Amino acid sequence: MPSVQEIKNEIERLKKETDTTILVHAYQGQDIFEIADYVGDSYGLAIKAQDDPSKNIIMCGVRFMAETAKILCPNKRVFLPNPTAGCPMAEQLTKKELQALKEQFPDHSVVAYVNTTAELKTLADVCVTSSCAVEVCRNLENDKILFIPDPNLGSYVAEKLPEKQFRFIQGGCPHHYSMTKEDVKKAKALHPDALLLVHPECPKDVVEEADYVGATTGIMNFAKNSDHKEFVIGTEVSIVEHLQFDCPDKKFYALSNDLLCSDMKATTLMDVYNTLKGMAGEEIILDDPTIEKARHSLDEMIRLG
Ligand code: 13P
Ligand code: SF4
Repeated sequence: MPSVQEIKNEIERLKKETDTTILVHAYQGQDIFEIADYVGDSYGLAIKAQDDPSKNIIMCGVRFMAETAKILCPNKRVFLPNPTAGCPMAEQLTKKELQALKEQFPDHSVVAYVNTTAELKTLADVCVTSSCAVEVCRNLENDKILFIPDPNLGSYVAEKLPEKQFRFIQGGCPHHYSMTKEDVKKAKALHPDALLLVHPECPKDVVEEADYVGATTGIMNFAKNSDHKEFVIGTEVSIVEHLQFDCPDKKFYALSNDLLCSDMKATTLMDVYNTLKGMAGEEIILDDPTIEKARHSLDEMIRLG
């Protein structure tokens, strides 16, 4: 049986042989981090995919991230190493439902969180990620915004932009959404000296208690650059592990173990290895009209963000 290190060495060799770049979302495990060419949040991954010179991309994250890379780089082959890795939030709204909402609010611009299917992106005016949502909505000409699908991220943005009118739908990340003030109270009682850093997908009353609110990369940078020594992390639990590796002299705690995203954890080192060997993974295939229409909303995100 090969060791973990031997598999990692083989992955490095196969990457070169097949002209493949491995892009990794920050919620992946430490073993996947170690074979990454780039690690980042959703926004960083989209930008990196666009700039990347290699022929193939393996996206270690969830399906909407691989679809986003394919939309931005239609001439590359993009692979999702574990086809079961989805994002429940991305599937919360159907194309038909969004069409009906657009008819109900024809004077609103549709701002779609990047955590949506490629199909939904074809109907959006612009996409956002959690790290550029405020900037994009601020720079949008229209003051009326239909924000889909996450009302928590949407409300966080709306608070920062009182000059704009927002409409939301019901939805959200099942993990971040389930955080409560009670979780914050418990964490603060256990770690009274810790700062609370949370993702804006958490509910408003949790966000209000935070010392810092931001996307995945923002949370990591804040913790690394801070003089503080202890942090409670209100986003996917991998971030606790990565920060502990990066800052061994500091202490990190998960706000709750319910912040474990099983979809983000679905991809294993062997999935990546087998994808490179052509024995596993799914190549993302999208038809040209979908790519063209969805691309507009992502281009707008990059232009306005
Ligand atoms: P980021 O935009 O911070 O990468 O978050 C993506 C995500 O899935 C959050 O749950
Ligand atoms: Fe989707 Fe939530 Fe998992 Fe992020 S953490 S991929 S929003 S289910």
